[in-house]
Amino acid sequence: MDSFLIKGGVPLHGEVSISGSKNAVLPIMAATLLTADTCVIRHVPDLSDVRFMGKILESLGAEVKFEGDTVTVRAAKVKGFGDYELIRKMRGSICILGPLLSRLNQASVSLPGGCVIGTRPIDLHLKGLRALGAVLDISGGYINAKTKRLKGTTVFLGGRVGPTVLGTANIMMAATLADGVTVIESAACEPEVTDLANFLVSMGAKIAGIGSPTLTITGVKTLHGTDHEVIPDRIEACTFLCAAAATHGEVLVHGARAEHFAAVLDKLREAGVKVERKAGALLVKASKSLKPTDVTTLPYSGFPTDVQAQFMALMCGAKGISVITERIFESRFMHVAEMARLGAEISIEGPSAIVKGGRPLSGAPVMASDLRASAALVIAGLAATGSTQVHRIYHLDRGYERMETKLKKLGARIDRVDGE
Ligand code: EPU
Repeated sequence: MDSFLIKGGVPLHGEVSISGSKNAVLPIMAATLLTADTCVIRHVPDLSDVRFMGKILESLGAEVKFEGDTVTVRAAKVKGFGDYELIRKMRGSICILGPLLSRLNQASVSLPGGCVIGTRPIDLHLKGLRALGAVLDISGGYINAKTKRLKGTTVFLGGRVGPTVLGTANIMMAATLADGVTVIESAACEPEVTDLANFLVSMGAKIAGIGSPTLTITGVKTLHGTDHEVIPDRIEACTFLCAAAATHGEVLVHGARAEHFAAVLDKLREAGVKVERKAGALLVKASKSLKPTDVTTLPYSGFPTDVQAQFMALMCGAKGISVITERIFESRFMHVAEMARLGAEISIEGPSAIVKGGRPLSGAPVMASDLRASAALVIAGLAATGSTQVHRIYHLDRGYERMETKLKKLGARIDRVDGE
């Protein structure tokens, strides 16, 4: 397993370009199952999760071609029975269920497991599909779904902590080919859901209320091929903003869409980080001293859970107490114990992490537990003095394209160490 060896304490300087969004492209790739025509997807990040989704589509019978940052999918003929092991390994693969069922009237997909950030139930996905008329049966680790034909209805998809991102994606996709009108109430409003909706509209789907909590989908008979450019990855952009600020550097982040992460920009400014909008880019300049800042993660347009760990790494360098509250996933503090190895003082009180910042971090070997925790440990390692080795960066490779190359261009001393 590969690791990163970081020699920290160097302020990041220079320019970085943001790749396409992982969490937008995964459901968009699943949506290509809705048509027999060719779909061209551009600005696709080269990530292990994206390659994996390509393999899943191939296992269902689709032709998938990766060329540079373009993926072409032609699902002329597909089967509704997915490879158990492939699908089980990636949580995002649950969103092939809606399109397969909508196109074929039956589908069997393995249940995605829980993961280190929480139990990750799929009750809302199942509720939505049942409301559309699917008969579901869970056996042998599979969700077996069938229907004569999905029928439009009104379904409320809000859960214990608000809307569901992939649940909204799944039901929206299923509804595109259903009979009649489907209204999704309490739909997720994340930019990735909006990007998927725009992709579906470009395939001929009829969707009103895009970007709002009420989506109205009028079913059509067929969808056609399309050509679509994926939005930039707002989480990658925020990760680089936090890294630049944590190292007291100055970085121009190209391709970031500030309107997609206003809540993060607001908190960065509260922490004393200067972020200026430039044409098609954001310039981040850290002040000498950071201010402690409280953050609570919320569904969009609130502070994203996917930036919580990276912001915590930043707050380790802010003198005073910051309270970081995680409201989306119940166990998303796995990075806390690892940050402590670098000298961070953080205690966990229920859903909140209390960060006593300002004490200089010093390098140590640490272990990444999930994608965003890995990014946070990299940021902490860049800010620390001495050497930090971040083990198990395969988590990071799932969601950050060429992270070490991008960081090196900014002056970071970071190397990938091949694992055995
Ligand atoms: N939830 C339910 N029932 C469901 C579905 C979700 O109770 O049927 C709960 C979850 O347990 C959680 C909350 O609802 O407490 C929100 O979960 P959501 O369904 O929105 O998460 P997701 O769609 O499975 C996507 C991203 C995550 C991101 C979350 C929240 C993808 C592939 N994944 O997951 O991304 O954290 O939305 O924004 O789009 C990451 O990129 O590191 C990552 C984990």
